[in-house]
Amino acid sequence: MKFIAKTAVYVAMAAAPALFAIPAANADPSDTSISSQGDATKGQRLFNRCKACHNLTATARRRIGPNLDNLFGRQAGGREGFKYSKALAEADFVWTEQNLNDWLAQPRTFLPGNKMAFAGLRKEQDRKDLMAYLRDSTVEAAE
Ligand code: HEC
Repeated sequence: MKFIAKTAVYVAMAAAPALFAIPAANADPSDTSISSQGDATKGQRLFNRCKACHNLTATARRRIGPNLDNLFGRQAGGREGFKYSKALAEADFVWTEQNLNDWLAQPRTFLPGNKMAFAGLRKEQDRKDLMAYLRDSTVEAAE
């Protein structure tokens, strides 16, 4: 009996790591593994493609798209006062570099039904460069 109990504990312990080993790659908003491979100066130029629709500070006037201040770690579709598509308003994720990377690569397929009229940034390096710029420029300085 004692032996069986011990065996059961052992089996449970052995199984536990497998349960928690589900890859949580880039689920952490503070993970900078994409932006760290980018060039923020080039990224600033790439942001010209977003500028018509997005500002980067909370106080700047809203354009066609929501302001992108404090983007990393923010709930998708969570900017108060912006009328999002149903797809983005109901999206249940936080903006991490990985999510932003996938969104920018193919906005349509990443989240079908969203209303961001942007074809996407096809080059992986462009996304890294833009991400490096956004990491620096979306953080609101404490007044
Ligand atoms: C033609 C206008 C337009 C362009 C260009 C554009 N966007 Fe957008 N963007 C939007 C709109 C509109 C939304 C809201 C979409 C919705 O509600 O489905 C949006 C949403 C977003 C969101 C989600 C924000 C949130 O609050 O969840 C991010 C991030 C974003 N855009 C980044 C970018 C970046 C980076 C670029 C440039 C590479 C870009 N966008 C280019 C119009 C644009």
